[in-house]
Amino acid sequence: MAAKDQIMLYLEERKGDWVSGESLTRILAVSRSTIGKHISQLKSDGYPIESSPKKGYLLQKTSDLLTRREIRDGLETKVLGKRDIVCFTEADSTNTRAKDLATRGAPEGALVLSEKQTSGRGTKARNWFSPPRDGIYLSLILRPAIPPREAPVITLLTAVAVAEALLSLTRLKIAIKWPNDILVSGKKLAGILTEMTTQGDSIDYIVVGLGLNVNTPRFPDYIRDKATSILIETGKRFSRVKVIREYLKWYEAYYEVFKNIGFEPVRKRWRKLTNMIGQQITVEMIDKRYSGEVQDIDKDGALIITDGTGESHRIIFGDVTVI
Ligand code: BTN
Repeated sequence: MAAKDQIMLYLEERKGDWVSGESLTRILAVSRSTIGKHISQLKSDGYPIESSPKKGYLLQKTSDLLTRREIRDGLETKVLGKRDIVCFTEADSTNTRAKDLATRGAPEGALVLSEKQTSGRGTKARNWFSPPRDGIYLSLILRPAIPPREAPVITLLTAVAVAEALLSLTRLKIAIKWPNDILVSGKKLAGILTEMTTQGDSIDYIVVGLGLNVNTPRFPDYIRDKATSILIETGKRFSRVKVIREYLKWYEAYYEVFKNIGFEPVRKRWRKLTNMIGQQITVEMIDKRYSGEVQDIDKDGALIITDGTGESHRIIFGDVTVI
């Protein structure tokens, strides 16, 4: 763990209390000036840290930081987030970090979070706007005992969990857009990036990345018309920690249902939470393009559309535009 993250962790564990510079230098085995440099960086990153030449450093009690302790306190799950949680102040991509951990044997339910991403990834090699402390950038490691061909339903299950969490915490009109978008007023509030690694015929691990715009006040020009945040939609700031706990709670509930009963109950809920059924859409694939009316999703999570000639198409991957 980088020294900056170690300092944050130490301050977080003693949130609201003064921590002497001397104790930090001892624990991290670095000089006072190095500590000072990291603290200034953390402050300019926006962390509410007070400094006093006599008392040392203090992290204010009311901060909405993504730390292990914050997330675990009051977390109502049995597995997800209960074991390994890794919180970065900065990471290239939480999905990339989670894949590293999974390769090294991290268990199901392990969680990677970052306050900021420098190379946040979206689907189709797009980047994910990840400004510090405004959003949730989180990746969950799963090891489901299902064949790899069933894995696409995990993205749809994730979308349902995100939607449920948002519906229980806000009054927003949430709509799921197949396969990985959560929309409000036609704009993107959250996106999901699911990455799988297989071993022979079985899944080694799945990393489910969630990018959720919580307190983002504005977006850069290139996405201003397409993206939104809970803050923009409600005019209120929300606790990211609470949103994460709620998401994990819903996730675990649906994941259990999926493992014990199958995808059908999740699919039923998905149909209620999407606004796509009956809509005219265009789907761009690598080599084809279909237009038609959305009928449903099938038992494997594929999108079923009917084109103008009445022919049905089963879409498993593609860029969807609602007409
Ligand atoms: C999309 O809608 O294109 C998917 C966006 C997924 C973004 C999240 S942020 C956390 C995780 N880490 C990444 O690099 N990407 C996902």
